[in-house]
Formats: sequence, structure tokens, C-alpha cells
Amino acid sequence: MMMLDTSTLAAQLRQPHGEAALAVADSMNRSNGALNRAAISLLAVAAGERILEIGPGNAAFAPLLLHADDSHYLGIELSAAMVEAGNQRLASAGLADRATMRLGDAHALPVADEAMDAALAVNTLYFWPSLAPVLDELARVLRTGGRLCLAFGDAAFVRSLPFAADFHLHELEAVEQALRVSGFRVSAWRSHRETATGNDGQARDKHFHLLLAQRR
Ligand SMILES: C[S@@+](CC[C@H](N)C(=O)[O-])C[C@H]1O[C@@H](n2cnc3c(N)ncnc32)[C@H](O)[C@@H]1O
Repeated sequence: MMMLDTSTLAAQLRQPHGEAALAVADSMNRSNGALNRAAISLLAVAAGERILEIGPGNAAFAPLLLHADDSHYLGIELSAAMVEAGNQRLASAGLADRATMRLGDAHALPVADEAMDAALAVNTLYFWPSLAPVLDELARVLRTGGRLCLAFGDAAFVRSLPFAADFHLHELEAVEQALRVSGFRVSAWRSHRETATGNDGQARDKHFHLLLAQRR
């Protein structure tokens, strides 16, 4: 990661913006690549599915979600810079006919009821003070039986990150419980650990959880 002070880095991770936005996206893609791949593998997209991603940054991993025949992708981003960069990336990859990024907020998704088969959010729930409004929205836009994969840092690990002082920490059990309350059945949990360089450029042991849930 380029040298940013901790509060600037935190603000960029929350919503990449301005001149630094593209470099921040590149850095997130490097730091978060293995976790995104693990989440995509757990979600196991099938042919023809409609996939929603919340907070994908510049959609670097969307092509991996779109390997299934005739699948469709919508990325919802709070950051206008990421929407623009993501749509450029999808067009360059020849995916513009079945993949798009749109400006929006996970708390009020610009998506019709039951319009999605699968949804994914990696490293985004730190920016949600309360999980219920977002999980209710995801439950609304997923069809019955639709899958949701959440990938997020273990609360103790995230607490140790100097730039995460203002992040909202959600314990694994609290996320599972919030999923149930919003109408999901939790069907799988994976622990993801790696020793790697974080978004602040420091090497450390990283610990994440992946949850897979089905819309009841
Ligand atoms: C830390 S980045 C993670 C990006 C990517 N998912 C990854 O794993 O590298 C968080 C992203 O979520 C977006 N974001 C934050 N809050 C959001 C919200 N309420 N709705 C939609 N996107 C949001 C930010 O703009 C940012 O691009």
C-alpha cells in the first residue's frame, strides 16, 4: 500500500475516493485476493445464476464469479470511483453484456425483490454499524434458497489493525445469529488464515471467517 496515515487509509478502505482511489483498489486486490478466491469457491456459482456483490471495489474478482455459463453479475458500490473503474474493467474483459457495477448502498439496494440467486460480500461488514438492515436487504433481494457468502476478519484480528480503530467489529457468533434473524440458514463456516502483507504494508498473521447461508 502506498504510504497513507491510518485515518486516511481507513477512510479509503471505507469508500475509495479521489486521486488515491485506484491505487487503493490495487492494494486491496493484492491483500484480499486469497480471501476473495476462497469466498468465490464457497459460493460455487452455477450456470445461469444472477450474482450480486456488495462492495467489490473495482470488481477485480468478478471474472472468477462469471466462469459459469450465462451467469450475470451486479456489483453495488458506495464509491463512484470504484463503479467507474469496475465498469471499465468489466468492459475490457469482454463481460459488459452480463456484468455491471452500479452506485448504491447495501442498506437500500437498488435491486428488485428475489432478483438474485447468490450474493457475496468480502471485507465490507466493518462498515455496517448494525448487521440487521443490510442482511434484511440481502434477504429481500435473494430468492428462496438463494445463497449468501460473507467473508470478514476475525474480530480479535481486526482489532489489532492500527487503521481499523473505527471499524465495526462483529464476532462470528453475532454474524451467525444476525443471519438467522434475517431469514437465513447458516450452512457452512470456514476459517481462512494467511501470513501476508496487509493493507498497511505490514506482514502479519491474518485470520478471517467465511459463512455460507441460504435464504429460507
Ligand atoms: C475494504 S473494501 C473491500 C473491497 C473488496 N470486497 C475486497 O475484498 O478487496 C470495502 C468496499 O466496500 C464498499 N462499501 C462500503 N460500505 C458500503 C455499503 N454500505 N454499500 C456498498 N458498498 C460499500 C467500499 O466503497 C469499498 O470499496
